[in-house]
Amino acid sequence: MEKILLITLLVMVAVAHAHADNSIYDEMFMLEEFEDLHTSDEIEQELLEIPGWKSERGSKVLVNVDGFGAVGDGITDDTQAFLSAWNKSCSIPKSVFLVPERRRYLLKPAAFKGPCADKLIIQIDGTIVAPDDPKNWDPKNPRTWLHFSKLKGVSFQGAGVIDGSGGKWWDSSCKRNKSNPCREAPTALTIQSSSAVSVNGLNIQNSQQMHFVISNSDSVRVLNVKISAPESSPNTDGIHITKSTNVVIQDCKIGTGDDCISIVNGSSGIKMKNIYCGPGHGISIGSLGKDNSTGIVTKIVLDNAYFKETTNGLRIKTWQGGSGYVRAVRFENVRVENIANPIIIDQFYCDSPKSCKNQTSAVEISQIVYRNISGTTKSARAMKFACSDTVPCNKIVLGNINLEKDDGTVETYCNSATGFGYGYVHPSADCLQSSDKDMHSDQKEDIEIVQPFKDDHIHTEL
Ligand SMILES: *[C@@H]1O[C@H](CO)[C@@H](O)[C@H](O)[C@H]1NC(C)=O
Ligand SMILES: *[C@@H]1O[C@H](CO)[C@@H](O)[C@H](O)[C@H]1NC(C)=O
Ligand SMILES: *[C@@H]1O[C@H](CO)[C@@H](O)[C@H](O)[C@H]1NC(C)=O
Ligand SMILES: *[C@@H]1O[C@H](CO)[C@@H](O)[C@H](O)[C@H]1NC(C)=O
Ligand SMILES: *[C@@H]1O[C@H](CO)[C@@H](O)[C@H](O)[C@H]1NC(C)=O
Ligand SMILES: *[C@@H]1O[C@H](CO)[C@@H](O)[C@H](O)[C@H]1NC(C)=O
Repeated sequence: MEKILLITLLVMVAVAHAHADNSIYDEMFMLEEFEDLHTSDEIEQELLEIPGWKSERGSKVLVNVDGFGAVGDGITDDTQAFLSAWNKSCSIPKSVFLVPERRRYLLKPAAFKGPCADKLIIQIDGTIVAPDDPKNWDPKNPRTWLHFSKLKGVSFQGAGVIDGSGGKWWDSSCKRNKSNPCREAPTALTIQSSSAVSVNGLNIQNSQQMHFVISNSDSVRVLNVKISAPESSPNTDGIHITKSTNVVIQDCKIGTGDDCISIVNGSSGIKMKNIYCGPGHGISIGSLGKDNSTGIVTKIVLDNAYFKETTNGLRIKTWQGGSGYVRAVRFENVRVENIANPIIIDQFYCDSPKSCKNQTSAVEISQIVYRNISGTTKSARAMKFACSDTVPCNKIVLGNINLEKDDGTVETYCNSATGFGYGYVHPSADCLQSSDKDMHSDQKEDIEIVQPFKDDHIHTEL
């Protein structure tokens, strides 16, 4: 019913404006098609099952890091043992790279490179821990700890822990102490330049900076992953997706000191489903457009999420002066509890010590759908659409929104944003209509769209 209503609305919008600009509506429909793809079934089912290596050793070759000299006492440096075991298991088809349970392996920064022979499984049951002292990193290459690249058809799984021991990094962050210089810090787990990868069941915690980065990759499925770090840990994003396509993140629980999930430039076809987020900064598209750069993010769906005590909920953030666009995004079935900015588009994002000047160019934001979003907000501005004066946000659709504050004062802020609401929308989204400074008279006629359902008065000036 909900879906039919939305499709009906999109059809009406498209019909009403067919004479104006066809291409834009095509993308709205592309989003529908994308959702019907069931992206989650794309990766071979076989990869997702626990391998039968315990019972069928004949078909799986077990490569245990202990067999390559790993000690697993949490003190001895096991990096070389892991790399030797990796070389072996990467070269044998159907092998299982095993990190056994009930042990704690200390690993310095390590690069695990593919391509590997077919059907590699990386089974992490024990704990992999990073040295806590930043001195263990080459200052020329401080960005990664466990770095996997050029993998194809590989499955990470197990109930093990990846622990970045980030405390000293956090203390030396310029976010925590303004007299520290701002410098880069490692990501705990990176999967780069890979395809058809699944990650199922791991725990990633206390990363030095971001926990899990998916970069330059296609067809990645992340399932049942738990990510945690203290709320006070700086820049510790949960999952960060950059230049990647067809990524599914499902059934994950994330609580850190920064975004639970962040999606940046060059990413398209990202589906997030059943996500618990908190504490943290919410789920973000961006930031994009920093230092006049181009940022392009399209076809993003979040379906069914719960945000608890986060600073933001559903956020799109771009810097002044950027270019490119964010297009075809849907956030739906979201419950928020006591969070500061449940729905926010911020085109004036400025995360730098200096204040940022307004500029004429900006990353264009359009076709953003929010549907069935409810819960409680800490700030009166439950919905904020702060868009560039020169590059307005457009086609923002709000359906069935109910955001409450304990003292009853909630409002929507709009600057240079247009769109429409349908169904119950609280606080009211009327400012999406009044703030279209460039509305032409011929477009006004299109606002008189029929009522598809009783009491559902549809306004649009798209
Ligand atoms: C792994 O293999 C690569 C390439 O064959 C080689 O350069 C490297 O030394 C090997 N590392 C270990 C620890 O065996
Ligand atoms: C911040 O860092 C400076 C220099 O490293 C140090 O002297 C100062 O005590 C630190 N402040 C706090 C609050 O930790
Ligand atoms: C963003 O991605 C586009 C295309 O994918 C690329 O041309 C551009 O250089 C990227 N921008 C940045 C800042 O990396
Ligand atoms: C971005 O472009 C503006 C306007 O052209 C210019 O004033 C500014 O210096 C540029 N910023 C950077 C970081 O290149
Ligand atoms: C609205 O979203 C909530 C929270 O995810 C969900 O429990 C509920 O079933 C959704 N309602 C509809 C009508 O889809
Ligand atoms: C930039 O423009 C916005 C919207 O008009 C305005 O609210 C804000 O104060 C401006 N910021 C600066 C630094 O001029």
